[in-house]
Amino acid sequence: MHDIINQLAVKREAANLGGGQKRIDAQHKKGKLTARERIEILLDPDSFEEWDMFKEHRCTDFGMADSKIPGDGVVTGYGTINGRLVFVFSQDFTVLGGSLSETHAEKICKVMDHAMKVGAPVIGLNDSGGARIQEGVASLGGYADVFQRNVMASGVVPQISMIMGPCAGGAVYSPAMTDFIFMVKDSSYMFVTGPEVVKTVTHEEVTAEELGGAVTHNTKSGVADLSFENDVEALAMLRRFMNFLPASNKEKAPVQPSLDPADRLDVSLDTLVPDNANKPYDMKELIIKVVDDSDFFELQPDYAKNILIGFGRMDGQTVGIVANQPLVLAGCLDIKSAIKAARFVRFCDAFNIPVVTFVDVPGFMPGTSQEYGGIIKHGAKLLYAYAECTVPKVTVITRKAYGGAYDVMSSKHLRGDVNFAWPSAEIAVMGPKGAVEIIFREEKNDPAKLAEREAEYKAKFANPFVAGARGFIDDVIMPSETRKRICRSLAMLRDKQLENPWRKHGNIPL
Ligand code: HXC
Repeated sequence: MHDIINQLAVKREAANLGGGQKRIDAQHKKGKLTARERIEILLDPDSFEEWDMFKEHRCTDFGMADSKIPGDGVVTGYGTINGRLVFVFSQDFTVLGGSLSETHAEKICKVMDHAMKVGAPVIGLNDSGGARIQEGVASLGGYADVFQRNVMASGVVPQISMIMGPCAGGAVYSPAMTDFIFMVKDSSYMFVTGPEVVKTVTHEEVTAEELGGAVTHNTKSGVADLSFENDVEALAMLRRFMNFLPASNKEKAPVQPSLDPADRLDVSLDTLVPDNANKPYDMKELIIKVVDDSDFFELQPDYAKNILIGFGRMDGQTVGIVANQPLVLAGCLDIKSAIKAARFVRFCDAFNIPVVTFVDVPGFMPGTSQEYGGIIKHGAKLLYAYAECTVPKVTVITRKAYGGAYDVMSSKHLRGDVNFAWPSAEIAVMGPKGAVEIIFREEKNDPAKLAEREAEYKAKFANPFVAGARGFIDDVIMPSETRKRICRSLAMLRDKQLENPWRKHGNIPL
């Protein structure tokens, strides 16, 4: 007995050391933590239950029979974040560069299978050189096994990817199918092919950072949702992020009681919208002033800034917030913003999170670059997402709601449950100037007459009452009481029941 206990201790020690002290030191030197250190920060103290610590690869080619390290480059198991169950895998770069062997993949699949069975999120801490080159197709098969599970888990349990090192080749496609991707600045990157291959094929010279670093994916490609300065900040923020999410599609997000009164008024909102309809204002100010404790967890803040998305709480309940941002492109909807918001709305819908939408949108962005880029198809994504969404939907039109964009932004017609407008709302097919230039084209050489027509159009449509008269707006509210009215609406909608007709799946315009 004594012998076997000793053996256990020795094996545990070997597993804990991963690729050895030298490689751990090298990892630290790069400003990166090890796989186990990361888990320690991510999970509640002493909550981690590790599985498959002794699992080894089965490869015998290229001298691999002699280089077996217990655990095979990934630490897996489950634990809690603020007392709530999560499953975790954390790739260990010190073991063969965290490369994915068949065994490594089996370990990830095991936690994913359990997460789906019990209904808990899966968090992947990615730090890997990709497919284990020595294993060939066995490791490719391993990736595909993970991909298949990513798809089966999609919409069932939240899946979050934290990219904390290299992530190259097909390896990027597992994170790509998860719900959120976070990255660590300067030490993580994601690309399908690295700079060397890019140079050979396209003759472009680009660094790894430029090609797929955190800044690139958070500003240019929109692949990532947020980036953080270092491992510790990333993991601490991930803990905070998880508090907003439900464990699975069968549950609601946890209620976090707040001392912020649900009926709190904010009179400063009464002057948020400038008198001049062409003057911008910061929609984020509104969001911050209405959510509990000003706590808005914004996602993709540096990508498609003309729309804002993120989580907040209203009277303790998690809500997904989507808002046009008049400060950027006047809040127009374009390809990038439509895709950004559509994916977010679908996440909220899949996971029982009510959607609160703030609208100030002059329409879809015109022009050849948008049309050639497929704004019709991509704009339709957002329309589709809102229309299929069955969770509680509360909408507030603060100013412009013009044209198709009025319909898209969680309008009554797309089953918006409660639709408010501020007195400054203008709900029309287009802005007054554009409208009169079309309907009164024959008067285009008479500026005085046109101005008169414009004033007439404005008086008729640049207000919320025409829509109110049709019941498309449930009430016109004072901006200062926005929080109170949203909180009440959400309380009323708490047990909302709405189901879409049965189908295998819809066919969202991809
Ligand atoms: C086996 C690997 C490995 C891999 C790294 N290592 N990647 N071993 N398979 N894919 C090993 C290295 O040999 C080295 O071992 C250790 O990990 C650390 O690697 P370094 O190169 O010293 O580290 P660094 O300089 O930081 O560079 C990291 C790296 C580089 C950029 C990831 O290692 C690299 O380019 N690796 C290959 C990446 C790649 O082409 N992967 C396949 C992608 S294709 P020692 O013993 O010296 O410490 C793919 C297909 C998936 O993934 C398809 C799914 C559909």
